[in-house]
Amino acid sequence: MKVVNIKSQAHESVIMIGENLDNLGKYIPVERPIIITDTNVRQCWGKYFPPGDVITIGTGEKIKTFDTVRYIYEQLLKLEADRSSFIIGIGGGIVCDIAGFVASTYMRGVRFGFVSSTLLSQVDASVGGKNGFNFGGYKNIVGVFNQPEFVICDLNLLKTVPQKEILSGLAEIIKHGAIADKSLFIFLEENRDQALALDLAVIEKLVYDSVVIKSEIVNQDEKEKGQRRKLNFGHTFGHAIEKTTKVRHGEAVSAGMVLASELAVKKAALAEKDSNRIADLLGKYGLPVRLEYDCHAVLETLKMDKKREGDRIYFVLLSEIGNAYVEEIAIKELEALINPP
Ligand SMILES: NC(=O)c1ccc[n+]([C@@H]2O[C@H](COP(=O)([O-])OP(=O)(O)OC[C@H]3O[C@@H](n4cnc5c(N)ncnc54)[C@H](O)[C@@H]3O)[C@@H](O)[C@H]2O)c1
Ligand SMILES: [Zn+2]
Repeated sequence: MKVVNIKSQAHESVIMIGENLDNLGKYIPVERPIIITDTNVRQCWGKYFPPGDVITIGTGEKIKTFDTVRYIYEQLLKLEADRSSFIIGIGGGIVCDIAGFVASTYMRGVRFGFVSSTLLSQVDASVGGKNGFNFGGYKNIVGVFNQPEFVICDLNLLKTVPQKEILSGLAEIIKHGAIADKSLFIFLEENRDQALALDLAVIEKLVYDSVVIKSEIVNQDEKEKGQRRKLNFGHTFGHAIEKTTKVRHGEAVSAGMVLASELAVKKAALAEKDSNRIADLLGKYGLPVRLEYDCHAVLETLKMDKKREGDRIYFVLLSEIGNAYVEEIAIKELEALINPP
């Protein structure tokens, strides 16, 4: 097991990579925790949950709504949960985002922890303390910042995660290598087969490195504004493609990273061979390098991006593999990239 300690203003959070769901009981400070999970995770892994009350929600982005939050509040009242209760989210990013929000707001906040059960939630949602839900057609528009006391990343749980979902996590891991850690990038190049086979030692390194990279960036952001933007590499185009084509997040981000790398080459910041290397690595993992999309719709969505200021947008570029920087780019320049004359 590898452990990462995260300190933010008032809180301390510990992320345990390679710890087992079986041992969860050791970390719970009360006799009967309240577990929030979804139907898939309960079906696959419910028999390993510690004793406690279980609230089960549905699956998919469409249930990440206030109705689901309300349902959980109602269950908490029925269970007579109070300030001394302890909430555990066991699931992917959706369960953890919702469980974190509920725990942060019910009775002005009760103690909570997570068991992250997808690769994406282990390498991304486990760090940074963001939680919340979708509202009015906007993703994650309501939420708070609040760290769980602990996150268990049980790598065995990944065995039942559909391959497409694993790919979403791998896209974020490749992103972490590209923006901050060339040796991680090389490791990904050299260990593809083991990574795709979910070899425990390889996955443990990938999750650990990702958690360290994200937590360092998030920590720096408390002092130096804007560092956190680097985590958006591939996400400006990615979000716009995701919204307009309905492909999965990881696939859209993969194509978005390729476009962002190409822009960096155009700006003479990144060597063309490095841009090709990024596309090659994504392709090697079965992630899309190009996607079909409606250029006009993507542009319209870009114009609504929350990172936009006037006709410019904060955009993440690379100067080399392992080094990202943020620059304000005119939307016109992005237009030329996806819609060449
Ligand atoms: N808080 C953050 O910083 C942060 C960061 C990234 C993403 N997110 C959020 O995370 C969500 C996506 O997370 P996700 O990709 O984990 O999706 P998810 O929670 O929807 O899980 C994906 C699917 O896998 C199933 N599943 C989960 N664990 C399983 C297991 N061990 N075995 C079998 N099936 C399993 C789920 O039921 C679901 O159908 C998005 O809503 C996104 O906004 C949050
Ligand atoms: Zn992402």
